[in-house]
Amino acid sequence: MSDIRSLPGFREFYPEDRAVLGHVMGVWRQACRRYGFREWESPVLEPLELFTEKSGEEIVRQLFNFEDKGGRKVSLRPEMTPSLARMVGAKANGMPKPIRWFAMGENYRYEKPQKGRLRAFYQLNADLLGEAGPAADAEIIALCSDCLIGFGLTQADFRIRISDRTLWFRYLASLGVPELQAAAVLSVVDKLERGSSKDLLEAMTVALAGTSVDPSRALELCRAFANTRSLAELESLSANDEAMKARLAEWKQLLATLHSMGFSECIAIDLTIVRGLAYYTGFVFEAFEIGGEARALAGGGRYDALVKKLGGPDLPAVGFGMGDVTLRDLLELKKLIPVYADGPEFYVMILGEDARPAALEDLANLRRSGFRVEYNLKDGKIPKLIQAAEVAGAKYALIYGGSEVANGVAKVRSMMDRSEAEVPRTDLVPALRAVLAEGMRAVQP
Ligand code: HAM
Repeated sequence: MSDIRSLPGFREFYPEDRAVLGHVMGVWRQACRRYGFREWESPVLEPLELFTEKSGEEIVRQLFNFEDKGGRKVSLRPEMTPSLARMVGAKANGMPKPIRWFAMGENYRYEKPQKGRLRAFYQLNADLLGEAGPAADAEIIALCSDCLIGFGLTQADFRIRISDRTLWFRYLASLGVPELQAAAVLSVVDKLERGSSKDLLEAMTVALAGTSVDPSRALELCRAFANTRSLAELESLSANDEAMKARLAEWKQLLATLHSMGFSECIAIDLTIVRGLAYYTGFVFEAFEIGGEARALAGGGRYDALVKKLGGPDLPAVGFGMGDVTLRDLLELKKLIPVYADGPEFYVMILGEDARPAALEDLANLRRSGFRVEYNLKDGKIPKLIQAAEVAGAKYALIYGGSEVANGVAKVRSMMDRSEAEVPRTDLVPALRAVLAEGMRAVQP
């Protein structure tokens, strides 16, 4: 046997696993359609510079990049947002706004494979472009919640933590941090929950080099700001700053919209979230599971400058990505994965070569009419065929022996209670539809 295994962090999906992925994608698609989103797709392989210039440092370190045979520098996509921004940008002028698009594709990141993080994962992307106000942010956060609620999860299982890079930038400006250094300070804020005090102070000192702001005081103030958890607290911290007060009016609109739609229990204010990707400009958020390992299920935010940077018009945008890996772990933990049942509805048992032509004709017709049908490719005896029908997971058997064919009938047999009935071959399609809807009583005299 060959010992060539699949690569670390890449999954093989046997049918049982692929069925779960199918379920996940089905729920995502239904939720997006309910919000009027249309599905799109982009190439898996892209020019390297699409990501090195647009995604941000953390993702760039994780790129699966190489040179193709034509000498082009290329990369597997680590995310879909830059491709989306390019595609929308190229045709935006002719598109009715707002644009509501969703995609579900495999993304690739060279990360250390571990629980919840792999090198290849599926991700739902939902993005709304062409609307700058908080109503669009609320729509995207609502959709993110409904994508989780669609699986049977509740507010007891997840929380969407909302933060705001705009408010952070205005706060840092109020502390005297120059605009150029603000992004560097935010990457220190990103590490507040994980870093040691010593490392954080060092990083803050580097971030603030050349300014008159004292790093240890800045660290203290950022920590206090990051720990704000309510609008009232934010209002008191913003009382003396007009720019921050103006931004809080947008916060109120965002929260009021989500409240009216019934999502108050699903969300929380949490300014420790700043997001690693470089393109975010305004509200940002991450969905986390509650309890357990508290892993991120989804992340997103507003990126108003990206479409223009990729050559398109000035088009505001907001969206999120939701991965299948942590989501599946959570659904398994909460026993929310439905039983895998995609076996055939009917297993046609052909008893002897004489019955074969009639059986083949009928089963081909049944398949054309939409039934899921399997049959014995090779001749076999009844006990073996019953076993085969059970293994296939069929609900019913359809038996064709010499006497059935001579009488112009097929015998339907319930695999559950073994009851049987004869159905004229000319009547097969409506009779079997009735059997699926009502059970065997539909055909028993
Ligand atoms: P992200 O936070 O990098 O954002 O990824 C979003 C989600 O994808 C994560 O919360 C996680 O569920 C999943 N994910 C990311 N990396 C991995 C991994 N290595 N293994 C398993 N799952 C992973 C973005 O990708 C943005 N482009 C989202 C976005 C769309 N923003 C605006 N529109």
